[in-house]
Amino acid sequence: MSHLRGRSVLSLEDFTQGEILELLKLGAELKAAKRGGYEVQRLKGKTIALIFEKDSTRTRSGFEVAAYDQGAHVTYMGPGGSHIGHKESVKDTARVLGRMYDAIEFRGFAQTDVEALAQYSGVPVYNGLTDEAHPTQVFADFMTMPEFCSKNLKDIKFAFLGEGRDNMTLSLAMGAAKLGMHMNIGSPESLWPDPDYMARLHRIAAQTGAQINLEADPKKAVAGADFLYTDVWLSMGEAESLWADRIKLLLPYQVNAELMAATGNPAVKFMHCLPAFHNTETSVGKDIEKRYGISAMEVTDEVFESEASIIFDQAENRMHSIKALLVATLA
Ligand code: CP
Ligand code: NVA
Repeated sequence: MSHLRGRSVLSLEDFTQGEILELLKLGAELKAAKRGGYEVQRLKGKTIALIFEKDSTRTRSGFEVAAYDQGAHVTYMGPGGSHIGHKESVKDTARVLGRMYDAIEFRGFAQTDVEALAQYSGVPVYNGLTDEAHPTQVFADFMTMPEFCSKNLKDIKFAFLGEGRDNMTLSLAMGAAKLGMHMNIGSPESLWPDPDYMARLHRIAAQTGAQINLEADPKKAVAGADFLYTDVWLSMGEAESLWADRIKLLLPYQVNAELMAATGNPAVKFMHCLPAFHNTETSVGKDIEKRYGISAMEVTDEVFESEASIIFDQAENRMHSIKALLVATLA
């Protein structure tokens, strides 16, 4: 793994198929080691800055617990918790943090910001989500799939339902292209990914044998899938005024019992990066119910709570897979 030492994790596009598979294997090994009580600390004395310009539950906890388990220390800088972006440029912040920390995690808006941090800090930088990409989530997702499906990753077929241009869709598609998987993006045409991005995916797919398809018909998109994956219809940082339009466009792509059955696969599993709007137990969920008369959005409570749902395994694997990234790049 020494060839990964010092590397940043900005996008899955920067990694070869072999490197991604190695990192997934390391994640599974670290999970087994923690569960078995034989984990070896390989990051003793390391320091990691965690910058969050947007809120987080899983990504923050994943980085913190992974670091603690491995003997590293973290500093959390939440939204407004540092000068980054408003009083000090990303480039200047990068050069300061690079003098103090061994690595930096960044969650924010522009992909160019996480790239600038990596360019100017001189230490490994991990993309904890930008408007364009969420690579650490995909490592967790591709670590989780084989736990619930006996197929090799390259033989797995999955469908993403919903906002076709959001960070999860784009990153899952990049990961699927790299690993030679079959992914259908079930989304209305007006929300399909940018053609340039699709061309990038198809160039990679031509080498790996992956199939990445766009499909406006939700039932066609899910046919034969091993996994159905969805995400929120409005991402962090997007204008609240977009809700009405998104709900209208995306309600036909809601993952419900009917769509699960339309896969024709009784063993199909449900995935979501979380957080999810599956009931009215959140302030946003209550507000949406009041304004639009729906009690669930991208997934029904029935599917979310069903036996087919593997969402909390995905959430747990955020920590193990992030640990693999830290160990591979820093130890
Ligand atoms: N899936 C995910 O990134 O969750 P958080 O926003 O809680 O980090
Ligand atoms: N697309 C979502 C993912 C959250 C993990 C967002 O950016 O808000």
